[in-house]
Amino acid sequence: MRNLPERIELKTPDQIALMRAAGLVVARALAAMRAAAAPGVSTADLDAIARDVLREAGATSSFLGYHGYPAVICASVNDRVVHGIPSAGEKLADGDLISIDFGAIVDGWHGDSAISVPVGAVAPDVAAMSAACEASMWDGLAAARSGARLSDISHAIESSVRRAGPYGIVPNYGGHGIGSEMHMAPHILNYGRAGKGPRLTPGMALAIEPMLTLGQRATRELDDGWTVVTADGSWAAHWEHTVAILDDGPWVLTAADGGRSELAKRGVTLSAAAVAA
Ligand code: MF3
Ligand code: CO
Repeated sequence: MRNLPERIELKTPDQIALMRAAGLVVARALAAMRAAAAPGVSTADLDAIARDVLREAGATSSFLGYHGYPAVICASVNDRVVHGIPSAGEKLADGDLISIDFGAIVDGWHGDSAISVPVGAVAPDVAAMSAACEASMWDGLAAARSGARLSDISHAIESSVRRAGPYGIVPNYGGHGIGSEMHMAPHILNYGRAGKGPRLTPGMALAIEPMLTLGQRATRELDDGWTVVTADGSWAAHWEHTVAILDDGPWVLTAADGGRSELAKRGVTLSAAAVAA
């Protein structure tokens, strides 16, 4: 039973600026890994790229050592949904879809983001599912505005997916508050009715992360204690961004352009804080 509202950490502008610095490290690393993902490249090779970016930036990993997690990225290929552990033996092949999740810490403040990347030519239904997942993330980010309620984000994601196709929306995993830790209150479902939960207020930061499948929504965890796979073997996609909620609009801290272009398509203007940075 939960009768008391959860405390949601509120950030000062200076703290959000540090989260932006972390977010830009994450954006740079994901761009480098996206460019490197090709047939024959191993998921451990991608992890090494991310480690190099962290070292050059003087940043540290959100993931390494988190409940004993052994790498700086999660690499989840095909029917793997999230939390795949990179390995030198796992080489990408033409037609794969790899979801890469990465988090960085700058001066104690976290950024967390994920992308799904086609390796060579992927099947059209796989590409469409990943595009639907990315679009639903942006629809959720566009709903992350001061004065809205938390489940408005969940509802925006679900509505977006339902418009796109008969995809499975993975339960039991979802978005989260983020800031001085990677995973903080509140938990954010990727589906649900609008108008529920805490009111979104300036200074909150949230990671929005839909996970879709081409089949059923059920998942299971492998014996490694981390890797989450679809129960039916269908392929999955995962997209994630960290967003700050400011009084005059959102700022997508892990997007190189702060989210400007994708939010504009949805009629949402970025916070002036982002424009000034
Ligand atoms: N970044 C993931 C998330 O989006 C969590 C990664 S779990 C870890 O919430 F163990 F790899 F850190
Ligand atoms: Co996350």
